[in-house]
Amino acid sequence: MHIPVLLNEVINFLNLKEGDTVIDATINKAGHSKEICKQIGEMGTLIGIDLDQKSLDEAGRELEHSKCEVILQKNNFRNLDKVLEKVGIKKVNAILFDLGFSSNQMNKSGRGFSFQKDEPLLMTFKENPTEEDLTAREIVNNWEENSIADILYGYGEEKFSRQIARKIVEIRKEKQIETTMDLVKIIEKTIPNWYKHKKIHFATKTFQALRITVNDEIDALKEGLNKALNILRKEGRVAVISFHSIEDRIVKQFFRNKKEEGVGAIITKKPIISNRDEILKNPRSRSAKLRIFQKVL
Ligand SMILES: C[S@@+](CC[C@H](N)C(=O)[O-])C[C@H]1O[C@@H](n2cnc3c(N)ncnc32)[C@H](O)[C@@H]1O
Repeated sequence: MHIPVLLNEVINFLNLKEGDTVIDATINKAGHSKEICKQIGEMGTLIGIDLDQKSLDEAGRELEHSKCEVILQKNNFRNLDKVLEKVGIKKVNAILFDLGFSSNQMNKSGRGFSFQKDEPLLMTFKENPTEEDLTAREIVNNWEENSIADILYGYGEEKFSRQIARKIVEIRKEKQIETTMDLVKIIEKTIPNWYKHKKIHFATKTFQALRITVNDEIDALKEGLNKALNILRKEGRVAVISFHSIEDRIVKQFFRNKKEEGVGAIITKKPIISNRDEILKNPRSRSAKLRIFQKVL
């Protein structure tokens, strides 16, 4: 069963009213959207966005009997402005970003997001990637050692980024790195033994860094947040749930900058996190951080 993360907190802090227009920028299975729809009622409009068509199909099924008007759009949230233009809406009352990807999307993609399956090292969310689209295979086989190390450190906070990058370059001279297991074996050969017995799998950070790079997730988030504030009505709120420190830092800094520019107020001085009960029911919520901003201008 799909359990939306920090649902009550999102609903409480978004301050929704009947008739509101709301964007769920990462609708997935409509876990949050179902409740949002209840709050905004028959006169309300929900615009649900996802870059994954299967998620949108599922959201459509989940929201079939909802009372509010539902508009679903396949797009990247970095194009929020274009989506609104397309559906003929200018401003909205609230926007939710619940970042990342569901475990289902990761495990069933066949594109090498998971280090637990032997799959081609693609990691792109593009449905029909062409030769021109960046893939993880391209990065590990063709990028310079320093550039690989930089992304492993910058987007994965990988302690052994330099060592892993060096090993990747050494191995690829003999044989191209094609699959997830090729890469896992390289990481395994590089890191010390103690690192293999930590709570998180030793390949987690390298895989996260490659996925973020391939899908340009950091710039997409920055663009999405900027556009969100442009299309919010006065007093409207934006809520962001992030699942790793790199994203959370971006959100925190973005809200701070906007506050300093006089655009609005930070509602959550500290990020809201899940309580013990929620973490027990839904382990994924363990690393979730919710931050809210309200526009004043
Ligand atoms: C964690 S899930 C959201 C779960 C949802 N709130 C729920 O409770 O059902 C994140 C979703 O965001 C989508 N996504 C990730 N990055 C995106 C982007 N840049 N633009 C649009 N959708 C994105 C993923 O495909 C995934 O379906």
